[in-house]
Amino acid sequence: MRDFKGLDLSGKVAIVTGASRGLGAGIATLLGRRGANVVVNYVSPGSKERAEKVASEIEANGTKAIVCQADMSKLDQIPRIVDAALKISPSGKIDILIHNAAQGSEANLVDTTEEFYTRHFDANVKGPIFLTKAVEPHIARGGRIVFISSAGARLGVAGQTVYAATKAANEALARVWAKELGQSHGITVNSVNPGPIATDQWFQSDEQFLKDMQPLIDSTPAAARVGEVDDIAPLVAFLCSDDARWTTGSVLSANGGLYN
Ligand SMILES: NC(=O)c1ccc[n+]([C@@H]2O[C@H](COP(=O)([O-])OP(=O)(O)OC[C@H]3O[C@@H](n4cnc5c(N)ncnc54)[C@H](OP(=O)(O)O)[C@@H]3O)[C@@H](O)[C@H]2O)c1
Repeated sequence: MRDFKGLDLSGKVAIVTGASRGLGAGIATLLGRRGANVVVNYVSPGSKERAEKVASEIEANGTKAIVCQADMSKLDQIPRIVDAALKISPSGKIDILIHNAAQGSEANLVDTTEEFYTRHFDANVKGPIFLTKAVEPHIARGGRIVFISSAGARLGVAGQTVYAATKAANEALARVWAKELGQSHGITVNSVNPGPIATDQWFQSDEQFLKDMQPLIDSTPAAARVGEVDDIAPLVAFLCSDDARWTTGSVLSANGGLYN
């Protein structure tokens, strides 16, 4: 008899940060298709319509979705995300937290400014720390936290001094919280580690960076191409499922074998 019940997310409440486009939009939509009610977070006023489209697509599949504009780098905006999740939660609990939103520009060490550093660390590290702190009192037993890391955290890519450091920090946070929130809260905390993915972040990279990356892409063991959102989102959804209950503190490589 076929049995996919372990992958079902029916009735769960999920927060996906940065869900207006790219990977976050793909993850939010897939979690919705698996049965979750989803908070679709975004930051730029220009992304409102895109976020609303993601929410409509989720609702068309029969679950609830709520759009929430909040800047992850601003601590006073973080409660908006939690409030939105509680609005679509029949149980008053939050089950899934996907730390996807990120700043991802390149700068060589010599060009790195304090402003660049702060923009990346505030959005990619400070935001997830304080959003998790705000979600903690509401997280359901069996809950899931997933960070979207990057192969850049491990590969050592020129031009990623700050970005790579934020992503390595994400993986460290997952390992710490797996312990700190594991037995006490009954949740798992993991990272997914994509290589280059065909999203705005990738296509907005500067020309030289894309040129430098081409040999790496050509050498990707699984196939000589950048990844697609659909290569990554199902792995995130799997980590959110009951079937993934014995995996925590780990990094799931989703980069075609560039790095494990
Ligand atoms: N693309 C790649 O090659 C690649 C590779 C490895 C890992 N990743 C990681 O995958 C994740 C998604 O990347 P992506 O390529 O899908 O990015 P993207 O297309 O650039 O989209 C970024 C998303 O994050 C949101 N965002 C950015 N800063 C935010 C903030 N301060 N507060 C709230 N939301 C914010 C954006 O919202 P707005 O639309 O409102 O601006 C947008 O929804 C990131 O963590 C990234 O580091 C990407």
